[in-house]
Amino acid sequence: MDANQIQLRLKLHPRSVHDFLDALVALGMLERNGQSYSNTSEADFYLDSAKPTYRGDYFQFWDAREYPQFGSLGEGLRTGQPRNEIRRGDEDWVDAMYANPQRLRIFLRGMTGHSLPSAMAIARKFPWSKYKTFADIGPAEGCLPVQVALANPHLTGIGFDLPEVAAIFDEYVASFGLQDRIRFRRGNFFTDPLPNADVLVMGMILHDWNLEQKLTLLKKAHDALPAGGALIVYENLIDDGRRKNIAGLLMSLIMLLETQGGFDYTGADCCGWMREAGFRETRVEQLTGIESMVVGVK
Ligand SMILES: C[S@@+](CC[C@H](N)C(=O)[O-])C[C@H]1O[C@@H](n2cnc3c(N)ncnc32)[C@H](O)[C@@H]1O
Repeated sequence: MDANQIQLRLKLHPRSVHDFLDALVALGMLERNGQSYSNTSEADFYLDSAKPTYRGDYFQFWDAREYPQFGSLGEGLRTGQPRNEIRRGDEDWVDAMYANPQRLRIFLRGMTGHSLPSAMAIARKFPWSKYKTFADIGPAEGCLPVQVALANPHLTGIGFDLPEVAAIFDEYVASFGLQDRIRFRRGNFFTDPLPNADVLVMGMILHDWNLEQKLTLLKKAHDALPAGGALIVYENLIDDGRRKNIAGLLMSLIMLLETQGGFDYTGADCCGWMREAGFRETRVEQLTGIESMVVGVK
């Protein structure tokens, strides 16, 4: 498409159009050939909203919710306290979101946009042939269960999440025709037992909680697994030297601003907690440039 067509379609001011499109070229999202622009293969895969691999919902969620939080970073760093609605004594934004199906759907879709590359990597890299069943603890819309089930037809799985998530999860799973192999189970991972399965998964879960709560969840996962079963934890893990993975460090600052005690952590931290919870073997494997998984075997 040429620059004039894009300008008209997006209703861009003539003064902005070339700098905007060339910035997207510099970011690797567009290719330019003379006056003509097209998606790079990555943009085509991840940023075309007509495709099931679309990740734009995640960026929209960050744009609407998380970027503004960084305006309060200084106060957060000085006080160690959340700077959001919790601090102001307003209604908790998470409770308000779960009470509003439309806002909840946007959040859960955003989680799919976030976790899709990790889910695709876990579906391929983990030795699923050794196992028959899995349960994703806090799956949001169901991105990971869907990717794992698509790549491993012998598996059946459970998504275990809060009751408000049920309808959105079921709709997403059914859109891939996987409703016979992936079921939703309503529950609260602090007050209910976790489902029994050969493999449990916790993606972007532990970083929301303080150390005591993290250890509780790891212990509950250990209790729910059979001997030889495995727990997969995936996050934007901070590198052990705490020098390289800026995504993990920035995510941890978001946890500072948005939660009461949540924080991100290194692979070595997580292996130590898993061993404390009883896991006999642990290992860390990189998934994407910024995300890794920690596997604990009971
Ligand atoms: C940050 S999202 C992570 C979603 C997904 N695992 C991923 O990697 O994108 C946290 C998930 O945990 C669920 N959750 C939060 N508190 C929960 C609780 N107490 N019991 C069960 N699920 C909970 C949320 O509904 C949401 O689906």
